[in-house]
Amino acid sequence: MFVAAKDMHYTTADGRQVLDGTAGLWCCNAGHGRPKIVEAIAKQAAELDYAPAFQMGHPAAFELAARVRDLAPAGMDHVFFTNSGSESVDTALKIALAYHRARGEASRVRLIGRERGYHGVGFGGISVGGIVNNRRFFGTALNGVDHLAHTHLPANQWAKGQPEHGASLADELERLVALHGAETIAAVIVEPVAGSTGVIMPPKGYLEKLREITRKHGILLIFDEVITGFGRVSAPFAAQRFGVTPDMITCAKGLTNGVIPMGAVLTSGAIHDAFMNGPEHVIELFHGYTYSGNPIASAAGLATLETYREEGLFERAKELEPYWEQALHSLKDHPHVIDIRNLGMIGAVELAPIAGEPTKRAFSAFLAAYEAGILIRTTGDIIAMSPPLIISKEQIDELIGKLGTVLHGLA
Ligand SMILES: Cc1ncc(COP(=O)(O)O)c(C=O)c1O
Repeated sequence: MFVAAKDMHYTTADGRQVLDGTAGLWCCNAGHGRPKIVEAIAKQAAELDYAPAFQMGHPAAFELAARVRDLAPAGMDHVFFTNSGSESVDTALKIALAYHRARGEASRVRLIGRERGYHGVGFGGISVGGIVNNRRFFGTALNGVDHLAHTHLPANQWAKGQPEHGASLADELERLVALHGAETIAAVIVEPVAGSTGVIMPPKGYLEKLREITRKHGILLIFDEVITGFGRVSAPFAAQRFGVTPDMITCAKGLTNGVIPMGAVLTSGAIHDAFMNGPEHVIELFHGYTYSGNPIASAAGLATLETYREEGLFERAKELEPYWEQALHSLKDHPHVIDIRNLGMIGAVELAPIAGEPTKRAFSAFLAAYEAGILIRTTGDIIAMSPPLIISKEQIDELIGKLGTVLHGLA
């Protein structure tokens, strides 16, 4: 149990300090208890606590939309607010379907995801997601969904940054187009860097190819940037880091530094404009949430983006990235380690599973790490780390040093 948090540390119920190696759940990119965000929330709650999200508006939501647009790659001109990553994903998928209908291409109903993709827990997200247990319990979910192959290849072991092998896996999309017909496919959704399924980096040239093929066939490309948005990959969005602009970006988490639930979908001007056919009094897009653009969340978002900017945290991530990479890869010869990969301020240390007991070794590492005073996260037998971007070099040394000791102590 955590009872308090400040900057890089959590305080446990028994009064210990734990160094946050995961930015909470990939969300507290500016660290914890940041004064500007705390003040903004209190002020907004006193001034305007709630305004209806339908028909009416309030300044903070529009201002935040403008700030997010300013951060995003050129062409991502519009913002639709949600309350989580899952809602952002389902919103983007619905916008994709409705966009094609609005343009008279109603046959485009297929959604394409990728194996080992995670897109939250809504019906849309679990359908395009590639985690079997997220689907196993809930029936067949959406029909008409297909998946690309994942890009986690043995040839890319110990890769630093983007791996060399696997760009050609994007050609699988041509196979799906040949199989189903481009005129039935609405959108492809991928995480530029897959986080929750074990940290899988995009091979060099892969995202570029996906962009080329989707454009060629009139298919929308959606980047799920719930994890990669807001500095995690040393740029505002992964789209900028990799130089590939999709048609929509989903985000959440770092948008409010994790402090208040909020997500967003960024869309191109072309997508927005396809809905603006009038007449004036008619609803353009039949979708929205009671808490879309909630004033307090909007205030938290504005203060968060201001904190990132004032402290230069995205630039800081870029400066720290080589140090982070070197520190992570120093674990290469430690017991049980079979792969290490990194990009931006993300790192993964993959452990050999215990025979017949997958996930147990990494979970033991998680428990031992907590006892040693560091918070790590595990998925399968992979240790995933994504510290707040305010981490110091000394704290990187502490995190990796303690993890090394934990690995030596594991059975
Ligand atoms: C890529 C991605 N998409 C969607 C989600 C779902 O976000 P949420 O838990 O806010 O619904 C996550 C959560 O980790 C994620 O990593």
